[in-house]
Amino acid sequence: MRHDSVLLIGGSGFIGSCIAARLAETGRRVIVPTRRYARARHLLVLPTVRVVEADVFDERALDALLPQVDAVINLVGVLHSRPGQPWGPAFEHAHVALPRLLARACARHQVRRVLHMSALGADANGPSMYQRSKAAGERLMMDAPGLQVTSFRPSVVFGPGDSFLNLFAKLQALAPVMALGGADTKFQPVFVGDVARAFVEALDHPASIGQVYELVGPQVYTLRELVRLAGVYSGHRRPVLSLPAPLARLQAMALEYLPGGPLMSRDNIDSMKADNIASGDYPLPPHWVPTPLEAVAPGYLRR
Ligand SMILES: NC(=O)c1ccc[n+]([C@@H]2O[C@H](COP(=O)([O-])OP(=O)(O)OC[C@H]3O[C@@H](n4cnc5c(N)ncnc54)[C@H](OP(=O)(O)O)[C@@H]3O)[C@@H](O)[C@H]2O)c1
Repeated sequence: MRHDSVLLIGGSGFIGSCIAARLAETGRRVIVPTRRYARARHLLVLPTVRVVEADVFDERALDALLPQVDAVINLVGVLHSRPGQPWGPAFEHAHVALPRLLARACARHQVRRVLHMSALGADANGPSMYQRSKAAGERLMMDAPGLQVTSFRPSVVFGPGDSFLNLFAKLQALAPVMALGGADTKFQPVFVGDVARAFVEALDHPASIGQVYELVGPQVYTLRELVRLAGVYSGHRRPVLSLPAPLARLQAMALEYLPGGPLMSRDNIDSMKADNIASGDYPLPPHWVPTPLEAVAPGYLRR
């Protein structure tokens, strides 16, 4: 069955915008709910995309939106939360409560096809609240009765507008030296265009129902190597100092209190206790040929 109309929750964000563009290219009708219309204004140039201001945590909003679509993509996620057990309130809200609410609403409206965004390293017993809450939300979705769910677990995602390589490029433009926690943690960065393609190709592909896919790039890098590349490509290469774990946690604690939201948190440091690379426990999507970071990142970091 072709799914022609999609509710794209989290469609205003970095990955969501790329998925919205791909869905529009294939002629599908897309509804992007956002908390603030201005955040999604850039999507209005896409001919089949409609932006609506709505609170997707309100059942009545979902009840109004779901009858208009035949599939849902849920991308909502946050990187930081106040502490809590087994995870903090913001993680509970975005990663667990929303999938629960959404699963029930989809069943009520017989919108069976759901694509869910998890994260590489999601693990009920993982070292960070982010990883544990992502695992719980994914489990809820996969187990939801009556739904046809596919879940995706990307490593860190790069591309124009990312908040990873761009952040390290900006910091190196400002600071004389980069003091890093988790410098030796390994990542397998994946291009945002490849992530978007995986979502759109899975949508009408019955074999992807019930699958969890890992989304990783062609190469493994340490965080130190990624920071160095961000410096080289942006033209502001700085020496990288590796911080021992207790100092990295202290630095993260200080960064949690920055005005405008944390740059980094102790929970991010906890996530880096485990490498963020393909585990082999889950398949890659069919015909997966990922884009090398070197082919894309120099172009947008130089700007
Ligand atoms: N970027 C990465 O490297 C990466 C790696 C692995 C997994 N992921 C996962 O991929 C997903 C998308 O990531 P991204 O980088 O595109 O994030 P992003 O740019 O921050 O976008 C997040 C989106 O979620 C929505 N959102 C956030 N909190 C919400 C809330 N409380 N209520 C309603 N909507 C909320 C935002 O919508 P509005 O603000 O418009 O309402 C926004 O569209 C997340 O689940 C993330 O965990 C990302």
